[in-house]
Amino acid sequence: MSEQTKGTYYITTPIYYPSSNLHIGHTYCTVMADAMARFKRLSGYDVHFLTGTDEHGQKIQKKADGAGVSPQAFVDDVVSGIKDLWAKMEISYDDFIRTTEPRHVKRVQEIFKKMYDKGDIYKSVYEGLYCTDCEAFWTESQLEDGKCPDCGRPVEKAQEEAYFFRLSEYGDKLLNLYDEHPEFLQPDTRRNEMKAFINQGLEDLCISRTSFDWGIPVPIDEKHVIYVWLDALSNYITALGYPDDPELYQKYWPADVHLVGKEIVRFHSIIWPAMLMSIDEPLPKQVLGHGWLLIDGGKMSKSKGNVVDPVVLIDRYGIDALKYFLLREYTFGQDGVFTNEVMLKRMNYDLANDLGNLVSRTVSMIEKYCSGVIPPAETEDDIDRELRELAIGTASKVEAQMDKFAFNLALEEIWTLVRRANKYVDEKEPWVLAKSEDREDELKTCMHNLAECLRIIAILIYPYMHTTTDKIWENIGLTDEVRWDDAHVFDKLDGQRINKGEVLFPRLDIEKELEELEKLQKTGAAETAEENIPLELKPEIVYDDFDKLDLRVGTILSAEKHPNADKLLVFQVKMGTETRQVISGVAEYFKPEEMVGKNVIVVANLKPRPLRGLESKGMLLFADNGERLEIVTTTAENGNSVN
Ligand code: MSP
Repeated sequence: MSEQTKGTYYITTPIYYPSSNLHIGHTYCTVMADAMARFKRLSGYDVHFLTGTDEHGQKIQKKADGAGVSPQAFVDDVVSGIKDLWAKMEISYDDFIRTTEPRHVKRVQEIFKKMYDKGDIYKSVYEGLYCTDCEAFWTESQLEDGKCPDCGRPVEKAQEEAYFFRLSEYGDKLLNLYDEHPEFLQPDTRRNEMKAFINQGLEDLCISRTSFDWGIPVPIDEKHVIYVWLDALSNYITALGYPDDPELYQKYWPADVHLVGKEIVRFHSIIWPAMLMSIDEPLPKQVLGHGWLLIDGGKMSKSKGNVVDPVVLIDRYGIDALKYFLLREYTFGQDGVFTNEVMLKRMNYDLANDLGNLVSRTVSMIEKYCSGVIPPAETEDDIDRELRELAIGTASKVEAQMDKFAFNLALEEIWTLVRRANKYVDEKEPWVLAKSEDREDELKTCMHNLAECLRIIAILIYPYMHTTTDKIWENIGLTDEVRWDDAHVFDKLDGQRINKGEVLFPRLDIEKELEELEKLQKTGAAETAEENIPLELKPEIVYDDFDKLDLRVGTILSAEKHPNADKLLVFQVKMGTETRQVISGVAEYFKPEEMVGKNVIVVANLKPRPLRGLESKGMLLFADNGERLEIVTTTAENGNSVN
């Protein structure tokens, strides 16, 4: 890599909720951040790339309860899966912060104290409309159709004693910030949305909760926990050691860019700068809001069962093909629709046909026509010159697009070169040149130029597809470090021996792949389906309804077939001092004799009713195991109540 002379570059992703495994939408953000971090490193910056997980809050606590484990055990498990995913994708982060780590917890408490000491935090009572899923309070006017404007779920009225941050006092300062530094929040549309939001009037922000305890305790009042967003946003500086270990903080803060999805721009461009103003620390240079990957016309969500698992795609097509697709297909800042078909076509056309083909034909021809050694250029005509100039001029075009986070256009510039090089082969027809001895110099030039193009392309794609860079490097026999500056120059490979390697991107049979993916994604969706999808139930009852039931333990003393009905079994059941007759429609599942002696659960106060001439007093509980009924049994003594 180039010498690091251009200064520091600090880039962050949002810290993800470890409420379940990450899907392709989350991957999209991290892939962009990784590409930018790699690009900056390669172009000479001292980069710090931070990602992590946002582990506190009611939602996680509820999930953990649902799974029957402690919140810490729950997040540990999901976070290890997230780290595995990033390792599999070779994401080049420098630090991974978890908000449950002691280094973060103690620093968030210090930040809270600083804001409190400044007089920016006060205690009051919060009454508002709360969305549990987004962990956000909303005002009436912010709701859409009476529901949470972010996730569309119902909100509930909530009231509790809470600490407040005087956010309302920062409205003008924030508006000034956007006016003086329009680059602070990009794209422009996002900035206009934020201005409109602030102009409606900012309310003070409730920053503590007492209704759950999975969070960082408020340092001055331990029955409160700190609101998740205050906790989460602080990660960008606590990970750098702020305030007690300032070395990294002084080196990298303020961040060059916080890359975030559009729905959390509000938190990053209003709450976060206001918090930093409150503690008198510099503001990040830029917040960039990207669009969403949509599927079936809507947001991916586990409950809809339409999430795309990146692991399935990586295992099948490799990390570079997936990263290329994500970065090439979508325009930064806008929403885009994910479909398998669009992805497979990109992989086939751009990767197998264009790049893969260029590499394999170039290497084969050098082997065939030049005994595997890259020759020097001996001649140059207009076509050669045009190719060479395009090749050495592409790096600056890529730089210009990367300055705008236009990953898709940066890749388009590179692919203009890839396609031009393929066309060059067709124009030069090396197989014709090879037939006449007096055209050997032209043939050499042709092979030379193609090899140089491969070298330059390999450098240019490094930020987006570094494993392919390594493979091309091997093909053209290079072992030295990839340096961005070398993409600006030609004629570096004379005399270099090539090594024909494996096919970079095999051609895909799109129809077959579509079928396979459908199968794999269905199984995946079933396996990872959210544990917490509400069941379709009978209408809700209140506790008093339940309390009307008198459930008792009974012992089956005898069981026999009903004389007048094949489906019914007649039981004599002892409950404490009383023995009574209970009839159930379960004859197809049980032999009468196997039921005797079981301690079962009886709905004991059910009104008696006649069944085919015999009276049944009560009901036994059975569970459906999917194929048949099982009797619900207990070891408790008969006559005892069941609550
Ligand atoms: N924990 C907060 C962020 C705190 S940052 C201080 C959070 N977590 S999240 O896991 O719900 O989302 C993390 C990021 O993933 C967000 O930027 C969000 O926009 C992004 N995405 C989630 N689904 C997405 C798509 N379908 N498409 C693109 N990005 C998406 O919010």
